[in-house]
Amino acid sequence: MFTEQDFILSNYSSIDKASFSWSAPSNIALVKYWGKKEEGEQVPANPSISFTLNNCKTITSVGVVKKADTSNFSFDLLFEGQSKEEFKPKIQKFLERIELYCPFLKEYHITIDTQNTFPHSSGIASSASGMAALAMNIMSLEKTINPAISEDYFFAKSSFLARLGSGSACRSVKGEVVAWGENKTIQGSSDLFGVEFDLLHENFKQFQDTILLVDKGEKQVSSTVGHNLMHGHPYAERRFEQAHENIFLLADILKTGEIEAFIKIVESEALTLHAMMMTSMPYFILMKPNTLEIINKIWKYRNTTNIPICFTLDAGANVHVLYPNAVKEQVLQFIQSELVGFCQNGQYICDEIGNGAKDLK
Ligand code: DP6
Repeated sequence: MFTEQDFILSNYSSIDKASFSWSAPSNIALVKYWGKKEEGEQVPANPSISFTLNNCKTITSVGVVKKADTSNFSFDLLFEGQSKEEFKPKIQKFLERIELYCPFLKEYHITIDTQNTFPHSSGIASSASGMAALAMNIMSLEKTINPAISEDYFFAKSSFLARLGSGSACRSVKGEVVAWGENKTIQGSSDLFGVEFDLLHENFKQFQDTILLVDKGEKQVSSTVGHNLMHGHPYAERRFEQAHENIFLLADILKTGEIEAFIKIVESEALTLHAMMMTSMPYFILMKPNTLEIINKIWKYRNTTNIPICFTLDAGANVHVLYPNAVKEQVLQFIQSELVGFCQNGQYICDEIGNGAKDLK
């Protein structure tokens, strides 16, 4: 198992210029990461586990050119081909955070060109896919100047770097199901990077995630602020324990394919996440009336048809509808006839389980 020390690079060569390109998907947590440890950088207060998505992704190309002055980071940021000054501070902060592990970055002028396959204003967090895609490119550069690194090291360090950009991004690197955060259930699990959970039962293969876009407005509370509100939260300690318990239960469910049990944990996790927001100080509500309308419709549909569909939520109003591939046709019909009316401009995105970042070069 890799330690933080292992990710500090000291011996490497250099190149005049190079370019790389990667896509990285978004992911949807089943057991939610909400809260960071006081000590350390980007260390989760509890373990989480997610399905990797397939269609919602960020595509990022990185070009590097050797420069003489190595005292500062130097980079240009393009979003969909256009210069994006307002995204630069976040990237600057990311580069500073990873400098210790990637000391070569200051030797190059870096051009980052990035785009998402989903609309920027959709309320789908692009930080997970975006930071993962950037981390992959940086690791491609590292591999170019230090070719000896193993494939395991390449992916573990990619996830480690992505985590320093955005916690959930470390679950967008490799594997259909990824766990992050040290726990007793999943072998090799770590607070430093995500690990692939590779015992997925047939029932969950090609699992579908239809994302209903309920509210595409700016979030009233950023995830970073929300995580911080778990410090001194009256229910935090019990919640963190519960996440460990749910990882234990869910790992077995994912192995044995019990959909009923899956539904219970996943929906409870989604509501617990929002309950934590509603009971923090300051408190806030990110669900919208239509979020609740959709949840009630899903419950009614499940009760009357016995079709195993369920929902989960991110830190926002959008609803992720999860269901097996085998019932895709009926469920899409149900979504179109009963749920689309609750979506902003009738918008939704069809996605499914995918398996992580892809090298496009
Ligand atoms: C509700 O990963 O966006 O989506 O580490 O501060 O960047 P930072 O937070 P972020 O938090 C995601 C929270 C969540 C749950 C989850 O994905 O596990």
